[in-house]
Parts: sequence; structure tokens; C-alpha cells
Amino acid sequence: MKVAVASDHGGYLLKKEVLASLSDLAIDFVDFGCDSEEAVDYPDYARIVADKVASGEFDRGLLFCGTGLGMAIAANKVQGIRAVTVHDVFSAQATRAHNDSNILTMGGRVIGAGLADTVARAFLLTPFDGGRHQRRIDKITQMEEASNLTSDVTRSC
Ligand code: RB5
Repeated sequence: MKVAVASDHGGYLLKKEVLASLSDLAIDFVDFGCDSEEAVDYPDYARIVADKVASGEFDRGLLFCGTGLGMAIAANKVQGIRAVTVHDVFSAQATRAHNDSNILTMGGRVIGAGLADTVARAFLLTPFDGGRHQRRIDKITQMEEASNLTSDVTRSC
């Protein structure tokens, strides 16, 4: 499994701690920045990871900011992305099993490194259940496609 990772300054330290603690997993993590606690704009980093996951180059993404929220809002603007902010293990397992979520976001000002490690493991190691849940994902995809079509028509007017 290949996992694209990024953070802004608010999530930088949590990202570093989580990546270090997940190093025992047979997963190829690639960190696309940022590289310090100097202030940056989280949408720039959400976009990098979202594009890499949406294109299929990476299987999943991990994004860290102060709250996890801005990263999720930004990543979800990319078609095919189902980014979720999760800070508990039950939701991490449930969102993988039911929503086939492909990006996990967490907040460095919200959660400690120990729990974040457990949440990330649950997210990365829980498979999608498929079945009736796939039908529901397909409906989300149809909503994305319809919305893109509307934007195209609006742009051409
Ligand atoms: C940066 O101060 C902060 O707004 C950002 O890390 C994130 O929490 C946004 O949602």
C-alpha cells in the first residue's frame, strides 16, 4: 500500500510522530511536506495529497492540520476523494468499512500522538465492506458527476 502524507504547520509535529510510530507497518509512506512549523496554507497540501490519491498513484492519504477540518474540506473538493476527520477508533473502522474513505485527516491541536497512531492504524488496516455500501458510494459519485456537469454548463454560459 502507498500512502501520501502531508500537513500544514498546525499538524506538522503530529505528522512526524505518527509517521515514526507507524514505521513498523509494511506501508510505503511518502511525506509531501510541510517541513517545519513555519506557517503555510493547508489547502496547498490538501490538494497535493488529494490529487495523488484521486489519480490512483497512491492508495490512501493522511493529512494533518490544527484541527483536521480545513484539510478535509479542501481535500473533498477533488473528485473521487472521500476525506474524513476522525479522532476515534470506532469511526476510523466504520468509515473505512462503510464509506470507503480514502483520506484521513487529524488535528495536531485535538489529539495526542498515541491515539492518533491507533486511529491511523485502524483507518489503514480496515478493508471496505463493499456490498450495499458500494451502492451508496456510487450515489455519492453520481452527485459529484452531476455537480461537475452543472459547473461546466454554468461556465459555458
Ligand atoms: C492554522 O492555524 C489552522 O487554521 C489549520 O491548521 C487548520 O486547523 C485549519 O483547519
